Amino acid sequence: MPLQGLRVRGRTSRAPLFSLRPSASNLHPRAGLAPPSIRMSAMPIAEPASSSLALNLLWVRSQFPALAQTINGHAAVFLDGPGGTQVPQRVIDAIADYLASNNANTGGAYLTSRNTDRMIAEARLAMGDFLNCDADEIVFGPNMTTLTYAMSRALGRELGPGDEIVLTLLDHDANFTPWKALEEKGVTMRTVRFNEADCTLDMDDLAAKIGERTRLVAVGYASNAVGTINNVAEVVRLARQAGALSYIDAVHYAPHGAIDVRALDCDFLACSTYKFFGPHMGVLYGKREHLMRLHPYKVRPNTDSIPNCWEWGTLNHECIAGIKACVDYWEELGRRTHPAVTTRRAAILAAHEAIHEHERKMTEKMAAGLLAIPGLRLYGISDPRHFENRCATFAIRIAGHTPLELATKLGERGIFTWDGNYYALNLTEQLDVERLGGFLRIGLVHYNTTEEVKQLLASIREIAA
Ligand SMILES: Cc1ncc(COP(=O)(O)O)c(C=O)c1O
Repeated sequence: MPLQGLRVRGRTSRAPLFSLRPSASNLHPRAGLAPPSIRMSAMPIAEPASSSLALNLLWVRSQFPALAQTINGHAAVFLDGPGGTQVPQRVIDAIADYLASNNANTGGAYLTSRNTDRMIAEARLAMGDFLNCDADEIVFGPNMTTLTYAMSRALGRELGPGDEIVLTLLDHDANFTPWKALEEKGVTMRTVRFNEADCTLDMDDLAAKIGERTRLVAVGYASNAVGTINNVAEVVRLARQAGALSYIDAVHYAPHGAIDVRALDCDFLACSTYKFFGPHMGVLYGKREHLMRLHPYKVRPNTDSIPNCWEWGTLNHECIAGIKACVDYWEELGRRTHPAVTTRRAAILAAHEAIHEHERKMTEKMAAGLLAIPGLRLYGISDPRHFENRCATFAIRIAGHTPLELATKLGERGIFTWDGNYYALNLTEQLDVERLGGFLRIGLVHYNTTEEVKQLLASIREIAA
């Protein structure tokens, strides 16, 4: 089938904005991206890292009212971040204030409607700074899954027999099935394996699966089940080299690492604000050229201009107000750790730097503690030398205990974890744990503490004894 414009013409010969090509010894994404991306960013942090302050956990935790709850007399311990994080008070206030004072539809010739238009524009700018793109490249939607289906339908209009899409078995189903649905148009799916020993993506297999027929490579930035961080910079480069588009699922990565769509040079990147301290909504970054050229399914009165033509019906305005407040939280966190930063983008990067340091310490403690528990199997990267390639998300099984039993007993003690497959269905099936109840998932984010890690470990030891 002819390409009809889906192929990214001439991009392989274009000089890259930044040199992102990792060396063989520098294959992990954080080494290849996150700290350098802070430096490579168009708006670098004004101060060197040495002048940064550590995360002030007292301040951080004081921002999240949910963290003060008690369950059965125990202080609640939220280790369910990968399923959705808690929100700062300012997000709650922004949602309530919008509903109290400005609740209106968009485009009206009166005050509250104009305020709504302005608020959405501000939220778009804020998300643009979060991802390092322009506001008109930010599409709001109900969640990542819906946005991904919308984009797969639109891209699918240009695809047919002879075209191929590369997917991975490490991905959440939301970055798998919406693309696989295009098989009904005759598109061929090529599926990339992962290494079972440490649940890392098989990059050789990925490189082999990308070819001249590849039109799109869909890959996760980080696994929501086992915490692996993929070398997405390399994946984007391989896709681009073949003239294919890249679609990055950054839902799980967003609370853990800085995202820079410009430095990555990806074509699309989707995330969900409820995973990084905002309300239940999804955000899609699309390169302006693609958002303008592709044809979304939409109703006739809806505008043809981007990004609104990709947003159908009335959006969740109150949650969009919450998104702006969520980015405000990131900004304040960054300014508190790097007081000299000047721009919002630099403050967001500074926040990530402080978060990374804190999460790394918790990861070391958690992994060492889990591995010392008899009968416990930790899935994913367990060698501390490769911890830069994982985030603080741990999938475990304990001999003689189902994940559901463990999650229930921990829940009774006020410790919230998750059990099952978390929609990473290909992964649990390949590891043959799907029929056994999947994994117990322990997911840390920056508001968790090493004290909570100790508490979790002590509880697991008691339950498993
Ligand atoms: C890695 C990953 N991708 C995609 C999704 C789907 O996101 P949403 O709930 O916004 O559709 C999730 C949700 O858990 C996820 O963890």
